[in-house]
Amino acid sequence: MELYERIPNNVNLSQDKRLQRALEKWLPSYLDWWREMGPEGFQDKDVYLRTAVDVDAEGWANFDFVKMPDYRWGIFLKPAEKDAKVGFGDNFGMPAYQEVPGEFRNSLRRIIVTQGDTEPASVEQQRELGKTCPSLYDLRNLFQVNVEEGRHLWAMVYLLHGYFGRDGRDEADALLERRSGNPDKPRILEAFNQPCDDWLNFFCFTMFTDRDGKYQLAALAESGFEPLARTCQFMLTEEAHHLFVGETGVGRVVKRTAQLMKESRNGDVRELGGIPLDIMQKYINFWFSYSLDLFGGEISSNSADFFAAGLKGRYKERDQYKDHTAAEGSFTLTVVEDGKLVPREVPLRNALNEVLRGEYVRDCERAMTRWNKYLREEGADAQLYLPSTRFHRHVGEFAGHHFDVQGNLTSKEAFEQSESLWLPTIEDREYVRSLMHPVTEPGEIANWIAPPTAGIKGKPFEFEYVRL
Ligand SMILES: [Fe+2]
Ligand SMILES: [Fe+2]
Repeated sequence: MELYERIPNNVNLSQDKRLQRALEKWLPSYLDWWREMGPEGFQDKDVYLRTAVDVDAEGWANFDFVKMPDYRWGIFLKPAEKDAKVGFGDNFGMPAYQEVPGEFRNSLRRIIVTQGDTEPASVEQQRELGKTCPSLYDLRNLFQVNVEEGRHLWAMVYLLHGYFGRDGRDEADALLERRSGNPDKPRILEAFNQPCDDWLNFFCFTMFTDRDGKYQLAALAESGFEPLARTCQFMLTEEAHHLFVGETGVGRVVKRTAQLMKESRNGDVRELGGIPLDIMQKYINFWFSYSLDLFGGEISSNSADFFAAGLKGRYKERDQYKDHTAAEGSFTLTVVEDGKLVPREVPLRNALNEVLRGEYVRDCERAMTRWNKYLREEGADAQLYLPSTRFHRHVGEFAGHHFDVQGNLTSKEAFEQSESLWLPTIEDREYVRSLMHPVTEPGEIANWIAPPTAGIKGKPFEFEYVRL
């Protein structure tokens, strides 16, 4: 473990002077980007943060007060397995790739760049949120997510610098040049160009969009390209906290809204300063549908190629499947043909985006059940739901068609007529924004959200997580 170098790492960076120099050259550009695009207005504050210092299941992280620009962004990979093998695809059972196989070089670089691009993008999307935090606990969680997305960028940049030579270095530079939402140099994926400017957006984003990240990372954690697999395995450890922030964040808003519904005379929580369930539903519809797009087309030759090559597996490929070639089976999915929804059978390998999306949807349904339980516990009849996976899609089979939230085909005109019932309107967004006032006294919380059931790392909710 090399923790006291400029770049903490467990990859023997000091043994590879060329790589070390390249990364040390990238470091100041990264810090410039962080200062310019990282959390606005809190760079000189002490924040109670977790820093990765190791990869052991226990004791992999250190908790302490840090100023964000001094955060120790490091490079940590799960230790190599002895005699690792390619776990799926046409090369199943062959020795895992320790270098980039020439014929897959472009595909792999594209996978790594696309994953890498999401990490700084989300920091950019969230940079203004600190100014309207509902509590110091939430403020700290926001910054925790932000610094770890920064570390995830490092993880991908390490692979680009370490394994892709000149064009890898160029790609690493470009990751600091694109900007979320900038029409001239946007981030690669659309969900990462959407504004995330209030805390309901933030919680939905970490619930739905970070969760896509979990499934992408899990599929790459199976990769036959070992450095990528080991990098992603460790990133998943950190990602779990981001999903926790999202799922409990939305859950706490749901809880608070249900309480306010009980208190209000007519069930309208606006007069009590709460977020109505119908607005929450629209935010869910918005982020769920954009996050579904991140899995790619339902029928995809890329997914087949990546799987065949042993680059990107299925979710829990090793634990969940017996047949790791997936060469035989077929998968029936729904497509639009002549204005109708019809089933179509495709080779299984071509449907692997959809298979992964299915895992993701089940995970979201689990969270939905939990939130609905909060509603019932507070005596509310209303329930939240996930819209159909066909609703509001911009990628794949359903892009270019219109569906209602139940997934029925509908006309453009009918869709536009109901759009304001299904997706956040400007008024909805303005209303939510009108509730966003900073609450920064230790132990206090904004009115529109319930406090968490526990603090961080055994500390109480009242702990001063950020020293302002
Ligand atoms: Fe990440
Ligand atoms: Fe994340």
